[in-house]
Amino acid sequence: MQDIEEVSSTLSDRITALSESQTIAMAKKGRELAAQGHDVINLSFGEPDFQTPQYIKDAAKKAIDDGFTFYTPVAGYPELRQAIADKFKRDNNLDYKPENIVVSTGAKQSIANAVLCLVNPGDEVIIFSPYWVSYEEIVKLAEGTPVQVTGNLENDFKVTPAQLEAAITSNTKLVMYSSPCNPTGSVFTKDELYALAKVLEKYPQVHIIADEIYEYINFEGEHASMASFDFIKDRVITVNGFSKGYAMTGWRVGYIAAHKTIAAACDKMQSQITSGTCSIAQKAAFAALQGGNASAIEMRDAYHRRRNLVLELMNDIPGFKTNVPEGAFYIFPDVSYYFGMSYEGKTIQNALDLCMFLLTDALVAIVSGEAFGAPQCVRFSYATSDDKLVEALRRIKESLAKLQ
Ligand SMILES: Cc1ncc(COP(=O)(O)O)c(C=O)c1O
Repeated sequence: MQDIEEVSSTLSDRITALSESQTIAMAKKGRELAAQGHDVINLSFGEPDFQTPQYIKDAAKKAIDDGFTFYTPVAGYPELRQAIADKFKRDNNLDYKPENIVVSTGAKQSIANAVLCLVNPGDEVIIFSPYWVSYEEIVKLAEGTPVQVTGNLENDFKVTPAQLEAAITSNTKLVMYSSPCNPTGSVFTKDELYALAKVLEKYPQVHIIADEIYEYINFEGEHASMASFDFIKDRVITVNGFSKGYAMTGWRVGYIAAHKTIAAACDKMQSQITSGTCSIAQKAAFAALQGGNASAIEMRDAYHRRRNLVLELMNDIPGFKTNVPEGAFYIFPDVSYYFGMSYEGKTIQNALDLCMFLLTDALVAIVSGEAFGAPQCVRFSYATSDDKLVEALRRIKESLAKLQ
């Protein structure tokens, strides 16, 4: 039999064009070094280090015992969709009905569903950059054309209304962003979102995916939703989920709120790909919402403290230029100061080289900004213990001092 690796036509163009998630690739390398006995501190993960709160775990155990082991409606149990609609009212003052809500296997699937339902081949999708790694790849899967619009560090990496307007063409179908943002931690204020919404009001063919998965991890102001502006609400797909706020990454529950036509399309898409998400995870998600957001607030306070700690430690490292993240659990410094410097004959050409150097020399795993559309930056996740953060930053400082 012919070796499959020789048959280059075996795999589709679609999958060949797709990049492997760099965050996952870096985490894999970190794990390999750890398996060889090295004491690697992994700051590449995009997930809370906290356990899922006990009351949520208990609800999942009960769901199994109560026999919730069957397929669920594709868009999710009706009571969960109602609880999500209630959450939108409680937290965001947004009116939705269960028919507007689709529960999916993580917010990642929610985004993929929406993009696949809206984007035709050749449609342009404006992605606020720096952006979460999967946005661009999901757009490519839908055969859309990603158009990056880049916010400046000096403006907290936030895209301005003028930048947005300049990027819109007659082919623009969708605009995507996250706030609080992965990877920059920037958070749009309500006024900033309003100014962007006023631009979008002029282009009725353009839809908006507002990724609000880090809603509860906001240290400074109030969370603002793009869907709160009535004049564009019908064109906004709000994405949220349980992974970050409730420390439920492994449970895989995300959701959208959208106009019922878009929600019905996402339901149809999902029905042919995965059906409804796990019945037990849905019961756990329902319990999470019933329990309010006290545990989310407790975790947010811990991230807030760690953010301050990391900022303080980074102040002491020459050449790291950063904004002050207001949410999520990442910090995204510009490290271009080190480009062109060398150690033991090896020159740091870019952020990826710097990440590799820090992984092998400092045994600290972080992620290169290339994957997020910002090749001069690196992303640190501070969703880990204070002790580990202190030790990681100490090692990084020591290693960087070797570069000449
Ligand atoms: C901005 C953003 N959106 C969506 C997701 C996906 O979340 P989920 O675990 O619910 O698929 C992530 C996960 O890292 C993220 O950072």
